[in-house]
Amino acid sequence: MDQLNHKKDASGHLSASALSQALLLIGPFREVVTFKEAPLAGPLSENDLGIIKEGGIVVDSSGVIVATGLFTALQEMYKGRSDCKYCPTTADQVLLPGFIDAHTHILFAGSRARDYSLRLAGKSYLQIAQSGGGIMETVRATRQAADTALLNALQQRLIKLQGAGVTTVEVKSGYGLSVSQELRMLRLLKTLSHMPELDFMEVVPTCLAAHINPPDSGLVKNSDYLKELSLDLLPQIKAEGLAKRVDIFVEDTAFTLREARTYLGCAKALGFDLTVHADQFTPGAAQLAVEMKAVSADHLEAVTQKGIEALADSKTVATVLPGASLGLGIPMAPARKLLDAGCILALASDWNPGSAPMGDLLTQASLMGAYQQLNMAETLAAITFRAAAALGLTDRGRLKAGLFADMQAYNVKDYREILYHQGQLRPAIIWKKSKPYDQ
Ligand code: NIG
Ligand code: FE
Repeated sequence: MDQLNHKKDASGHLSASALSQALLLIGPFREVVTFKEAPLAGPLSENDLGIIKEGGIVVDSSGVIVATGLFTALQEMYKGRSDCKYCPTTADQVLLPGFIDAHTHILFAGSRARDYSLRLAGKSYLQIAQSGGGIMETVRATRQAADTALLNALQQRLIKLQGAGVTTVEVKSGYGLSVSQELRMLRLLKTLSHMPELDFMEVVPTCLAAHINPPDSGLVKNSDYLKELSLDLLPQIKAEGLAKRVDIFVEDTAFTLREARTYLGCAKALGFDLTVHADQFTPGAAQLAVEMKAVSADHLEAVTQKGIEALADSKTVATVLPGASLGLGIPMAPARKLLDAGCILALASDWNPGSAPMGDLLTQASLMGAYQQLNMAETLAAITFRAAAALGLTDRGRLKAGLFADMQAYNVKDYREILYHQGQLRPAIIWKKSKPYDQ
């Protein structure tokens, strides 16, 4: 296991074959949390963490995990190979999959501190929305902001997420709310994949043009606004490859179940994956999400027993958003009940300027774990492989051969320290597709 013997082409770059063969053995770690065999749905126990004590990992330079196992066994296996380099750990460390934040709205400008103070003084989120504040305030600020300002703000937020161990993040549009402004937002998101300085994070874009029907759409009926989106926006998103996912906010101040059913049907027919802002204040949309075979139903603070049963009996991931409860001062979604019923439970930050300004997945996951009595395996699963499922991704979220080497190491001896510190402990190293970033 020597220094890499790189084959270079005439221009001095590594040839593709040399790159795909370059291996890296990293270790030893006091614990490697793999989640190798953990089930997708229902309650978990500590065994499901699939912990390898004194473990190691072999990754390749194309960004994929080649092997995990006892460090000494991997060392034995790879030591004679000239294509395998060794990267020793320099402290006691625990390795685990990178976190996945499967629901955010972090492409926005402006602040909603005013809303927040109004809420603290007694106004509700829905009352503020009804009086012209809320989402529309952010829409106005976002429309006015220059592309560079929006991208800079987004970049800062991505850096903050990475600092908390996040390696994949879903980002919704939804503060443009016209065909042209929604296209602008999604096109901005697309430019990220061509920005090498942002290669530490993968952004999964989602179209949330159906956030609300903005008063300036000129369309009095919600159904007309949704029709316009179906006819003029969604086909264009498809044609430009801007997003594979479509979301809708089903709520008294946004869209009805009936309106959502028609819109989601159109999106589905165009080949989009579906996700729904469901049961945040008013129940009913969890069942709609299941009926429409949505990939996920998100929020669920007000979900009923019927909704829980429908989700449990489906492949639709129940994504809970404690950040919105913390931002609004309302009870959290019944995560424990959802798990016990057999649902697939994911947990995301919902980072947005209105209801969830904190934007700290690890802190929120720790707190929800404490309030909902989720054991540590369940909480960590909800922000790793189960969060991947919420985005329809099967190529990440566990440390397992063949999956992406998206991972993070903490300077601790025992994985339990991570949630115990309730978000105050941060990873020392993060790898995105095998590429390391020291924090
Ligand atoms: O998920 N509930 C709808 N959408 C966001 C809030 C958006 C906003 O208030 O700006 C949410 O909480
Ligand atoms: Fe949201």
